[in-house]
Amino acid sequence: MSTGHGPTPAIDFDHPPADPVPVFEQWFAEAQRLPTPNPNAMTLATVDADGSPSARIVLLRGFSAEGARFFTNRQSRKGRALAANARAALLFHWDLLDRQVRIEGRVTLAGDAESDEYFAQRPVDSRVNAWASDQSEPVASRAELERRAAELTARFASGDVPRPPHWGGYRVSLDRIEFWQGDKYRLHDRIVYTREANGAYAVTRLCP
Ligand SMILES: Cc1cc2nc3c(=O)[nH]c(=O)nc-3n(C[C@H](O)[C@H](O)[C@H](O)COP(=O)(O)O)c2cc1C
Repeated sequence: MSTGHGPTPAIDFDHPPADPVPVFEQWFAEAQRLPTPNPNAMTLATVDADGSPSARIVLLRGFSAEGARFFTNRQSRKGRALAANARAALLFHWDLLDRQVRIEGRVTLAGDAESDEYFAQRPVDSRVNAWASDQSEPVASRAELERRAAELTARFASGDVPRPPHWGGYRVSLDRIEFWQGDKYRLHDRIVYTREANGAYAVTRLCP
């Protein structure tokens, strides 16, 4: 029986539901009610072509049985890593709920239509800056960044800002998804869902 600090037990860790998707959705909905600016922030870990791991924060922009979606520059360091090694790990930590969620899976590109749709709803300055920033590349100074942004703002002033061809979404499949609820005296609850060949999930409780 969990005596966790969360607002509701949310999961009966001894009798977990068969499908992890609604479990994530419930935890995410609870995280979105926290007094924290980016409850959708998650660490994205990738592996470069030479086998080196790297990690950074991105924002979750869509979650379904198909996977967890985020958007970025596909020519960035993470984009190059994913082109070489299309696997990733995602990590959410909601400290105020004493929870973490770990996702591991294969990575695919989100389609052009969904990337266009998401890009179109971003503020205009964010759209311009997607063109202005060669994400992960060296830049001499703040002034140089601002000069490029101003130049592109002027170039796009008279029309719409299209999605740059190198900017778009990725989706991480839910091959492994683990829910961790902190509890007293380090006797935390953990369950892991592992997707099997037939698409169903095996569910296992893990020692903390
Ligand atoms: C709260 C927060 C949210 C972020 N969201 C994104 C995002 O959704 N997409 C993105 O490309 N970078 C995002 N970043 C910036 C990344 O952490 C990172 O600096 C950038 O993507 C370059 O990473 P890379 O050089 O490993 O490719 C975010 C950073 C923070 C702190």
